[in-house]
Amino acid sequence: TAPPYTIGLFFSNWNTSMQSDLLMKTRSTEKTEGDILQALLKYVPQVNYKEFDQTSNAKKSRATLLHPKQNYTIGETIRIQVDICDHNGNLKTYGGDFILARIRSPEHKAAASGVVKDLNNGIYHIDFKLFWPGQVEVVVQLVHPSEAVAAIWRAKQMDYDKISYTGIFTNNSVQEKTECYSYLKSSQSVCLYVDEREKETYSCLKPLTLSCETLTFFQSRNISSKPLCLLFSFCFLFKLINETPFINKCCVVFCIADELLLSSEKCYLGTLQPVPSGFFHSGHWYPSFCNCRSFQNDNDINSCLQGKDLYFRGDSTVRQWLEHLTSKLKNLKYLKTTEKFKSRAPMLAVDEQRNITIDWRKHGHPWITVHLNVIKEGNYVSREVDKIAGGENIIVVITVGQHFRPFPLELHIRRLLNIRKAIERLKARSPKTRVFIKLENIRELTSETLRFSNWHGYIQNLAQREVFHGLNVTFLDAWDMTVADNTNNVHPPQHVVHSQVALFLSYLCHNSSD
Ligand SMILES: *[C@@H]1O[C@H](CO)[C@@H](O)[C@H](O)[C@H]1NC(C)=O
Ligand SMILES: *[C@@H]1O[C@H](CO)[C@@H](O)[C@H](O)[C@H]1NC(C)=O
Ligand SMILES: *[C@@H]1O[C@H](CO)[C@@H](O)[C@H](O)[C@H]1NC(C)=O
Ligand SMILES: *[C@@H]1O[C@H](CO)[C@@H](O)[C@H](O)[C@H]1NC(C)=O
Ligand SMILES: *[C@@H]1O[C@H](CO)[C@@H](O)[C@H](O)[C@H]1NC(C)=O
Repeated sequence: TAPPYTIGLFFSNWNTSMQSDLLMKTRSTEKTEGDILQALLKYVPQVNYKEFDQTSNAKKSRATLLHPKQNYTIGETIRIQVDICDHNGNLKTYGGDFILARIRSPEHKAAASGVVKDLNNGIYHIDFKLFWPGQVEVVVQLVHPSEAVAAIWRAKQMDYDKISYTGIFTNNSVQEKTECYSYLKSSQSVCLYVDEREKETYSCLKPLTLSCETLTFFQSRNISSKPLCLLFSFCFLFKLINETPFINKCCVVFCIADELLLSSEKCYLGTLQPVPSGFFHSGHWYPSFCNCRSFQNDNDINSCLQGKDLYFRGDSTVRQWLEHLTSKLKNLKYLKTTEKFKSRAPMLAVDEQRNITIDWRKHGHPWITVHLNVIKEGNYVSREVDKIAGGENIIVVITVGQHFRPFPLELHIRRLLNIRKAIERLKARSPKTRVFIKLENIRELTSETLRFSNWHGYIQNLAQREVFHGLNVTFLDAWDMTVADNTNNVHPPQHVVHSQVALFLSYLCHNSSD
C-alpha cells in the first residue's frame, strides 16, 4: 500500500506572481488570484488516503427518498438522501465525493438537475424540484470518490506538461520545431511570449536558427497519463481515478398536475439565477426563473437579431452558436474567407439586408486540438474585448474553460480576472453593451479523467461565478442544462445548442415586437 498523504495546496510557479499581486494590491475592492483561489478551496476535499478499500464505492452506497408520499404536486421539492459507503460497506466519515444527479422522464424527453448538499459525514442530501407531471425517475451518479477528486486536484495544480506543445517556427521555406510550455520554462535559451499587462506567459525552447518571432503553429498532444502519475507518485490511485462512474437509479415518484411549471417573468439581464435553472420537456428548455421564447421560427430570430453585432469570443462551444444560427438563417452567410477555412478562426457571418454580424474568434493559448493551430488566429479575450467599441446593439458572449481543464486553476483565474477588467473598461465606455458569460458544459465521461474530468469544469465554473460576481453580466448556465440533459459530449447536440441560443435571444428580445 502507498503511504498516506494529505491533499493540500500544491502551489505552482504561478505562486510567486500571486503573492506579489497581493502585496501590490492597491484598491481593496480589486480581487486577486489569491482571493479567488482561497474562496474556492472549500470545494476541494482535504482527504487522507489510507487504502483502496476505504475509498467510496458506489455499488455499496445507497440512495433513498426521504418522506415518501404516494403522489406529489407540481412545484414540490423531493429530497433524496445518499449514504456513501466504502468498499467494505461502511459509511464514509467525510464528504467531498463528486456527485451529479438529475430527474428524468424519458417518455416526455424531460429532465432537470438536482441540488447536492454535502453534509461532510458521508451523507448527501439532493433536492429536486418537480417541474412536470407524470412519472419521474431519480438518477444519482457518483462521478468520482472524494479520494479521486483530491488526486485530480493535486495533478491539476502541478505545473507540468500535461499537454505537450510543439511550436513550429516558419520563415519562408525554413521550418523548425521545438517544445513549448504553458508556463515559464526555466532554461537558458527560451523564447518567452509575454503579455506584460495581462501577466500572461508561455514559452518555447529557442529554435536553432530561426528567431522567436517566427513562431507560427502549435501542435498539441495528450502525453500518456501513466508517466504523469509516476511523476506525481500517485499511480496507486489510478484505478480509482479512472473508475467508471456508477449510476444509481434511486426511485420513482408520481407528480400530479395538468401542465408544466412555467415562469411568466421576462428574462432580465444580470438577474441571479436559481439552481436548478430550468428543465427540459419535449426536448425544449424551460428556465425556472423566466419565460424562454421558443425561437423555432426563423423570422423570430431574424427580427430579434436585426441591426445587431454579436461578438462570440472563446472556444468552440460558442462557435456552435454561430454554426447553429447560420444553419437556421438562410440569409446569414459566412464571408468567403471563412468558407475557405471552414472550422478555422476567425469566422464571420453577415446578413447584409438585416444588418446582422456575428463574429467568432478563439481565445489564445492554451488551445487543445489534434489539428494544426495557427497561433495568430487566437488572442487573449481581454485584448479582444478591448477592441470592441460597444453600443446598444453590441452583444458580447464569452466562454473560456474547456481548454483550461488540464492546467492549474490559477491560469484560468488569471485569464478570467483579465477578462473582468476588460469588461469593466467596456462597460465604462459603453454601459449599454450587453455581456454574457457562457459557463462550461459537461463533456464525455470517456475523456481522460486526470486532464478532462468534469470536476475541472465544476471548479472552473465556480471560479467564473466568483470572478464575475458584482459585474453586470448575464450567466448562461450551460452546466446546469447539460447535467439535466446528461450531455455526453464536449460539443452538445442540436437541441441543447438551440436551447442555449433561445435563452440568450430571450434576454435580448422579450416580445416578438422587440
Ligand atoms: C395518486 O394519483 C393516482 C393517479 O392519479 C390516483 O389514482 C390516486 O388516488 C392518488 N393517491 C393519492 C393518495 O392522492
Ligand atoms: C527571415 O529570414 C530572412 C532571411 O534569412 C531574414 O532576413 C529575416 O530577418 C527573417 N525574419 C524573421 C522574422 O526572423
Ligand atoms: C486529448 O484528449 C481529449 C480528450 O480525450 C481530446 O478531446 C483531444 O482531442 C485530445 N487532444 C489531442 C491533441 O489528441
Ligand atoms: C448596422 O448595425 C450597426 C451596429 O449595430 C450600426 O452601427 C449601423 O448603423 C447599422 N447600419 C444600418 C444601415 O442599419
Ligand atoms: C445591466 O446592463 C443592462 C444592459 O446595458 C441594463 O439594461 C441594466 O439596467 C443593467 N442593470 C443594472 C443593475 O445596472
